Amino acid sequence: MPITTQQLIQWKQQGRAIVALTAWDYAIAQLLDTAGVDLILVGDSLAVMLGYETTLPVTLEEMIHHAKAVRRGVKRALVVVDLPFLTYQESVSQAMHSAGRILKETGAQAVKLEGGYPAMVETVARLVQAGIPVMGHVGLTPQSVHQLGLRQQGKTQTAGERIFNEAIALEQAGVFSLVLEHIPANLALEITQKVRVPTIGIGAGVDCDGQVLVTSDVLGLSEKQPPFAKVYTNLREQITNAVQSYALEVRGGQFPN
Ligand code: KIV
Ligand code: NA
Repeated sequence: MPITTQQLIQWKQQGRAIVALTAWDYAIAQLLDTAGVDLILVGDSLAVMLGYETTLPVTLEEMIHHAKAVRRGVKRALVVVDLPFLTYQESVSQAMHSAGRILKETGAQAVKLEGGYPAMVETVARLVQAGIPVMGHVGLTPQSVHQLGLRQQGKTQTAGERIFNEAIALEQAGVFSLVLEHIPANLALEITQKVRVPTIGIGAGVDCDGQVLVTSDVLGLSEKQPPFAKVYTNLREQITNAVQSYALEVRGGQFPN
């Protein structure tokens, strides 16, 4: 049975950890889904696969194009799609239009957007009221890279309290889940204990209700990984070896034989 947003909230209550990973294409999405990943995020980390330096250049068209491919590969996992930079910050109506396009054109079940400041909380509330499931994202929000850098957030008392309050406000606005990125573990724990909806951590310690990583980091396919990523296999090395073997055999006349 396909996983629903309600199911994730139930799993939090039951203490069953939620397994999330990113996917940007059909092949990886199908592998993740078959391997039992609960939530597949079509992140705007798609930037990595498109060769962009940051997530800022990613367009709504690119997200939709890739989300459609991912969706075709998934039978069980909940598919969540990032709203890219400046396709939702301008107004509620812009956010509604962008999120609506994602749900209608890709078949994904939910969208994710960054930030928990008052205007964004209002936007989230309006999307949720319209029937669009929204995942929040606080702490390090990579679309603000030119303001925040890629440093850990919420380290001081004041900064920690701000992120805590944003999480509460987003919960009240109706998010079904919250990504907590690159914040101290004790802050993530406090938020996780306070909110009813599941927290999905990335660089936020072990006490979140679930974990997410960028799949190309997990597979060792990214050129560089953030400090909190764990590399479970080295695909760059394996692909290089495979391609070099092929080249050697073609040049040596051993393939095809
Ligand atoms: O874009 C992305 O991959 C993300 C996750 C890292 C949470 O937002
Ligand atoms: Na993202």
